[in-house]
Amino acid sequence: MERHNKRYGKITGWGIYTPPKVVTNFDMEKNWDTTNEWIVQRTGIQQRRFASEEETTAFMATQAALNALEKADVQASEIDLIIVGTCLAEDFTPSVACIVQSAIGAKNIPAFDISAGCSGFVYSLSTAYQFLSTGLYQRILVIGAENLTRFFERSDRTFAVLFGDGAGAIVLEQTDQPCGLQGFTLGADGSGQDDIRLNTSSGLNRFDAGHLVQFNGREVFKFASRILGKACDQALAQSNLSLDDVDWIIPHQANIRIIQSAAKNMGVPIGKFYINIDQYGNTSSASIPLALFEGLESGRIKPTDTVLMVAFGAGLTWGACVVQLAPVLNPQLHPAQHSWA
Ligand code: UT7
Repeated sequence: MERHNKRYGKITGWGIYTPPKVVTNFDMEKNWDTTNEWIVQRTGIQQRRFASEEETTAFMATQAALNALEKADVQASEIDLIIVGTCLAEDFTPSVACIVQSAIGAKNIPAFDISAGCSGFVYSLSTAYQFLSTGLYQRILVIGAENLTRFFERSDRTFAVLFGDGAGAIVLEQTDQPCGLQGFTLGADGSGQDDIRLNTSSGLNRFDAGHLVQFNGREVFKFASRILGKACDQALAQSNLSLDDVDWIIPHQANIRIIQSAAKNMGVPIGKFYINIDQYGNTSSASIPLALFEGLESGRIKPTDTVLMVAFGAGLTWGACVVQLAPVLNPQLHPAQHSWA
């Protein structure tokens, strides 16, 4: 059935927060039985950021949100909804989104978190677009924020060398011009729940010793190498687009070898993948907005590009979405953009 009043969503602002404390692999060598060589060869990571006690998940999310609002030239009072992708809020309740709402000075608007492991940002962005396409909300803040390093005291070296802290946010605004989400896929396989488990059953303070980590990195590696290409294919099929229509693939930054393996399986040059894992490590739900921000700010990602974001993580979960950042000149090239809105 033909639908009228099609509504599209454009990313008009982007911002990040990364803690100032840089921790190199050589720093990691001091506390863990590991080497710079092992970390670089097995993961591609050179350094990561560590949050201080004051830099909570909500604090980082708030700073990223304020930066994105400034970039979009949008006031907090103009935002209709806040969604935060995070699996590591300091509190079970309130949500990070509610804390952000208060901190930025937005009032009475809905705010909630989405917990989907490292897929949190793709889940949140896809969800935000549903609210935009119905016309219910016009301006949405979507944030990915994580504070994983507080689990390091109870983790082993395999886990500890991988992760870092940070947050990224975008402002999504309704527009009548065709652009935005072209198609997406989300999925989960709860039978893999034991492959990554961060348990906070005792002690809720972020620096106490109550956090337990269960991590089967090898299994996640295999799962990720499989699912990354599949999720991309599904999101592209939903979009009626091919990889040739995509300017950048922005993958969740978990391990350079996972990205390389996916590139090989997909037959895509590695240069089409935006990679910054060397600088930040794995920041879970924050990794894709961090990369998007960096790409846009550096000019490597152009404001008119089509990007394919793809993530996987604890749950196990996965998600991919194709986003046309700005209206295309020739809509015939992108026929699917009419099918979802
Ligand atoms: O974003 C979602 C969450 N991310 C993930 O789940 C990450 C996915 N998994 C991975 O990226 C990789 O599996 C890891 C980086 C975690 C591990 O790499 P791997 O190539 O799968 O290593 P492995 O677990 O097979 O271990 C190889 C060796 C072992 O020693 P032996 O048994 O061969 O003597 C480990 O004990 O490397 C050893 N090892 C380390 N050595 C130095 C494991 N961690 C370290 C370390 N430093 N940090």
